[in-house]
Amino acid sequence: MRTIVGLRKIVLVSALAGISAVAGAAGCTLFQSEQVAKGQKLYAHYCMHCHGEHGRQNEGYNWGNMPDPRPKDLSNRSEMSTFKDEEIFSTISRDMKDTTPEKGDKIGDDEFAVPTMPTFKYTLSEEEIWSVVAYVRTLHGMKSEFDIPGRIKKLEGEQLTAQKNFDQSKQTFDAAQKKAEDEAEKAGKDEADESVYAKEQEAFIAAKKALDTAQAALTSFKERPKYAAIQRPDLTMKPDQAAKLADRGKQLYANKYGCNACHQVNDTGGAVGPALDRAGFRLNGTWVFRWVKYPQSMKPETRMPNLGLNDDDAKAVTMYLDTLRAPKPDKPIEKAAN
Ligand code: HEC
Ligand code: HEC
Repeated sequence: MRTIVGLRKIVLVSALAGISAVAGAAGCTLFQSEQVAKGQKLYAHYCMHCHGEHGRQNEGYNWGNMPDPRPKDLSNRSEMSTFKDEEIFSTISRDMKDTTPEKGDKIGDDEFAVPTMPTFKYTLSEEEIWSVVAYVRTLHGMKSEFDIPGRIKKLEGEQLTAQKNFDQSKQTFDAAQKKAEDEAEKAGKDEADESVYAKEQEAFIAAKKALDTAQAALTSFKERPKYAAIQRPDLTMKPDQAAKLADRGKQLYANKYGCNACHQVNDTGGAVGPALDRAGFRLNGTWVFRWVKYPQSMKPETRMPNLGLNDDDAKAVTMYLDTLRAPKPDKPIEKAAN
């Protein structure tokens, strides 16, 4: 009797083990398809107007409006397979490069510097960008090798370790400080000698720094970037200074931030956002400055990415837009497609 029960137990246990092994594999595939689905949604919102539903050329409604080079054919496997997942990630999540002739940064051949491909570094979380990479891979029949859950696990582990170290070094520091104070009191001194526990204090400060770093790495992986409210800029200046800044702004508009990829001026440029021919009449400088620095603070789901403009660049671009004062068109400017 006993042996039979034992045997049944063994059979049951191994059957369960079999089930969980299958569920594990299915769970992994399920997770991957969830990531792809998430990436697809983001792609439809932020990429499709330029790259098209299937990643093909001249498929997105904005493709034909773009200056050269036109948005890349993401369905071309022989070309796209030459990029590593990490390379696709860093294109989508880079800092914009100034390609203004002479003035611009010297850009190495291997650094992606096309101004009309926006960056999403300041708009999406790293996890979201990796899921976009996973979706982009499917457009040319490949699979992303990047392990998103593994990365989260690793960052969470590092944060936990840093937290433990921090707690421990805080305890050590507190104890050393208390001991020094007690001894000072015994000796009849007003204050403890800080140098007695300097080593513990140093270790505590280092542990706090490491904890902040680990916390920030985890947050930027999982959450969209958030910034402090944009301060009101000082836009008062002499006319010649305004003209100089506007000139610089015009270069930045086309050669660094590729605003022309999405906006038209004089009937040239993209059609993702509204035409800016009359921006100087219609829009207030302070508002423009705040908008270009942090569009998501005013409209969280806008298709216009935060392109990472510093204050100087935002001011120059604002002064340029202020010069755009085309006469009223006979027919009203078409509202941008959404
Ligand atoms: C405003 C139009 C526009 C938008 C929006 C846009 N792209 Fe691009 N993309 C471009 C242009 C232009 C290029 C450059 C093509 C070239 O260099 O030949 C490009 C190139 C690329 C490349 C190839 C990079 C390389 O190293 O050659 C990838 C990958 C890519 N885009 C992915 C995306 C993804 C993903 C999104 C959305 C998150 C996106 N793009 C949004 C215009 C756009
Ligand atoms: C990927 C496309 C894209 C890029 C690149 C882009 N924008 Fe926009 N922009 C938009 C969209 C879409 C809107 C409309 C806002 C909305 O309703 O979401 C917009 C709105 C604006 C507006 C408000 C216009 C109005 O009439 O209300 C200004 C100003 C503006 N953008 C300036 C810029 C500047 C300057 C740059 C470059 C630094 C830039 N944009 C880059 C897509 C883009």
